[in-house]
Amino acid sequence: MGGVGGERPGSLRVGLLDSTLREGEQTPGVSFTVEQKLEIARLLDQAGVAMIEAGHPSVAPDVREAVRRIIGLKREGIIRGAEIVAHSRAARSDIEEAASLEPDRVAIFYGVSDIHLRYKHRVSREEALSIIGEMVEYAREHGVKVRFTAEDATRADYGFLVEAVRAARDAGADRVSIADTVGIATPYAMRRLFESLRRDVPGVEYDVHAHNDLGLAVANSLAAAEGGATIIHVTVNGLGERAGIAPLEQVAVALKRHYGVEVVDLKLIPQLSRLVERYSGVPVPPNAPVVGENAFIHKAGVHVAGVLRNPETYEPYPPEWLGRTRDYTIDKYTGRRGLQARLERLGVRVSEEELQKILQEVKRRSGARWLRDEDLLEIAEEVTGRALRPRPPEEIEALVTVKCEANVYTTSVARRLSVIPGVEEVAEVTGENDILLRVRARSPVELNQVVEAIRGTRGVRETYTMLVLRRIPLSDGARPQAAGRG
Ligand code: COA
Ligand code: ZN
Repeated sequence: MGGVGGERPGSLRVGLLDSTLREGEQTPGVSFTVEQKLEIARLLDQAGVAMIEAGHPSVAPDVREAVRRIIGLKREGIIRGAEIVAHSRAARSDIEEAASLEPDRVAIFYGVSDIHLRYKHRVSREEALSIIGEMVEYAREHGVKVRFTAEDATRADYGFLVEAVRAARDAGADRVSIADTVGIATPYAMRRLFESLRRDVPGVEYDVHAHNDLGLAVANSLAAAEGGATIIHVTVNGLGERAGIAPLEQVAVALKRHYGVEVVDLKLIPQLSRLVERYSGVPVPPNAPVVGENAFIHKAGVHVAGVLRNPETYEPYPPEWLGRTRDYTIDKYTGRRGLQARLERLGVRVSEEELQKILQEVKRRSGARWLRDEDLLEIAEEVTGRALRPRPPEEIEALVTVKCEANVYTTSVARRLSVIPGVEEVAEVTGENDILLRVRARSPVELNQVVEAIRGTRGVRETYTMLVLRRIPLSDGARPQAAGRG
């Protein structure tokens, strides 16, 4: 593949930590139920994330309960691969509560920038270092793996950040998360930061936690991975505090597209996104990358003409990666090629001259919205003077089930029913009902008359009518049944 990107296939060793249940629930207005969290966690595990940050048990009873039950799913082998992480402040009470649930790992966060030290924690740098060391050690004494999160690391003094990471490592943390808490890093700085940390504090693995305040979370996460981060924190649909963090779907696709690394089963992404959209109540905008409605819908005629010849002309990667499909809209931006292809898909053949006229009409009529296939066919009918749309059915077929009165001989009722005009077939059946009839009528009115005659027949107690939709013969040039976009 030429051009920019994709030049380092297989060059990264990286996995995802999904924090939809912890960071994601910090989205204003979002609160998942325990059951919803279990469902999301299972799907995340199925997709193949390396870690699930299940929550901060000290926050609320239901958060604790969700973390407890997700750990239970792991223990039962229902969640198979993902490491379960519980969140905690650098405080004994939080750590005890988290560790008592026996997660795979406790993640202890502590602000390391001077702003956080001075205004939030109100401690000196020296005090901070001893708190970090003590708390990591305290958690380790509970027999869990520990990640230390250096909160606001991107605004911290680099020398002090190194000391904090060292303190955590020396106290027994095997992972350190570098948090760009207010999303102010740039990709180049981020890559250098991770390269430097790996050089200055080896012997520990690094996570990146990138907030999206300036829309750089994905870029910064990829840069961190290039710099040596082995876990990228994500949430489904990019949920989280303020503008959220790096979206799982974007990071996963970018890792495959640019580095040839498949960190999750991409085909589960649309399902994950819809599930989280529904449970969070935060709608995915149509223009959202990867999971948005428009991600693989083309509009401009020039684009559509290109895509019809080869989708690569206007797609960075095929929708099939996600189990999605491509499409294009018909409106005033449509060109001849796209229009012709759409008409062909609808089973309509037109001359070059007709095509031009239809195109003119499309451009004249469509305002802000695109045309439905139905609207397009109507225009095509007007221009060509041919009937192109399926006509309403010429015949109605129905199944009528009959229950007989308790004391009658079913066979004689069936015989009486068989002579009613419109009744085509009669069968005695076993089960809930006694007789099944196939009825044909030329109109709803006629169908009603037949059903009334059935009801009025001696021995009939009850009837139930089901309409049977039938394929009807199409006139010449009409479209096949299954055509058209949904
Ligand atoms: N480690 C230790 N203490 C911390 C801390 C940390 N990483 N971060 C903040 N604190 C302290 C603050 O200094 C403050 O202490 P103070 O009351 O002595 O000033 C306190 O924690 C935070 O204030 P507040 O939230 O009002 O305290 P609280 O005890 O009522 O509630 C929580 C604490 C964690 C239960 C509550 O804030 C909560 O439910 N938070 C949601 C989760 C969350 O904030 N997550 C952040 C993830 S980045
Ligand atoms: Zn965060």
